[in-house]
Amino acid sequence: MKDLTPRREDLDPIEIASRDEITALQLKRMKWSLAHAYNNVPHYKASFDAAGVHPDDVTCLADLARFPFTMKQDLRANYPFGMFAVPRSDVSRVHASSGTTGQPTVVGYTKNDISTWADVMARTMRAAGTRPGDLVHVAYGYGLFTGGLGAHYGAERLGCTVVPVSGGMTPRQVTLIEDFQASTIMVTPSYALSILDEYRAQGRDPRESPLQVGIFGAEPWTNSMRTEIEAAFDMHAIDIFGLSEVMGPGVAGECVETKDGLHIWEDHFYPEIINPQTGEVLPDGELGELVITSLTKEAFPIIRYRTRDLTRLLPGTARSMRRMEKITGRTDDMMILRGVNVFPTQIEEQLLKVDGLTPHFQIRLDCNGRLDTMTVLCEAKEDAASDDARGMAMADLGKRIKQMVGVTVKIEVAQPGGVARSEGKAVRIVDNRPKK
Ligand code: DLL
Repeated sequence: MKDLTPRREDLDPIEIASRDEITALQLKRMKWSLAHAYNNVPHYKASFDAAGVHPDDVTCLADLARFPFTMKQDLRANYPFGMFAVPRSDVSRVHASSGTTGQPTVVGYTKNDISTWADVMARTMRAAGTRPGDLVHVAYGYGLFTGGLGAHYGAERLGCTVVPVSGGMTPRQVTLIEDFQASTIMVTPSYALSILDEYRAQGRDPRESPLQVGIFGAEPWTNSMRTEIEAAFDMHAIDIFGLSEVMGPGVAGECVETKDGLHIWEDHFYPEIINPQTGEVLPDGELGELVITSLTKEAFPIIRYRTRDLTRLLPGTARSMRRMEKITGRTDDMMILRGVNVFPTQIEEQLLKVDGLTPHFQIRLDCNGRLDTMTVLCEAKEDAASDDARGMAMADLGKRIKQMVGVTVKIEVAQPGGVARSEGKAVRIVDNRPKK
């Protein structure tokens, strides 16, 4: 893999500013953002008043902890445009969550917001190793989902040639990567695996592909998966994080020279980690739920949004801005099996150690009498599909999960192609338990 470290002179000055400069900017912007939300969004006025806090009270960044959290329910209760802080006619675009678990959440952007988003995405892509002039294949979905258009505007802002493929039609993905000679691909890690399978199905060697950088996010993935994808494609695999409520992709991203967690673009997004049970703010380094406050957003300011993502804050390395560790999982994806907390990422890590299994998997939860059971559905590689080989893989995986995760699970090893593929975010958990 090529050394793609960006030149220091090409970075935004704030990326390598001193901590004092960053915190001074944050404080100034935080005061503006709190006042903007309070003065223009009835929900924030009511919730700040109810908590007895006022934006004028803020004298240091830690004062933010006195303000109330914003939850997904608050956004739903104000559907569709009730959280906007500018007249609807000043909103130049909306995006929305899919709403599979309830009413969709609608978010809005002014022209300035779209421009800020393009800036932070361009910064994220440069950190990942993409350069002006590169050809960028965007296989994140276009539409209400923020992945496709977020990546698209960032690629254009950086000065790249963008190919807006969106998800799906996997054989065509491979054809276009090869014919257009894409050097960067932006896609969910699970769909990257489907594209990898398609390379092999077409008899092409993925290591010979023109790709040098993959910018993967929108779902949890492990460092073991990074190793797997980097080896398969002979390219850098870089993590990108974001969520529609806060902006979309580009809230944080990894640097290609370090790959040691995601730098949060703290000049626009202020992170906190809280204990998800008590709401107490935890010191840097401790694992908890990520809470984000927007510092510059105009149309849809968001104050102390509870992301439900579990991670920890770490000091800056390649940049001055703090990092978040790769996400362990979401509070709502945590499965509790006979008292043990289990995340899909822990299963992924063990699965990737077993010879003879592909990286595709799903977890099925059933209720057997009074006991919940977990079944890991995985599939054999082409050259390990015999009954014997599958039996060995099954035993090996079961043992590793028991030893490393601490739970007994059932394993089913399907024939190659037997696990459902994703074209966007993978569905990792199929919950067949009766609704409580
Ligand atoms: O997934 C935005 C995005 C698009 C990020 C493309 C990165 C790349 P939502 O659909 O609102 O937005 O989902 C946000 O996805 O709260 C996390 O639970 C999860 N997520 C996003 N990025 C990562 C990541 C987009 N790198 C939710 N690692 C977030 C783990 C991630 N989980």
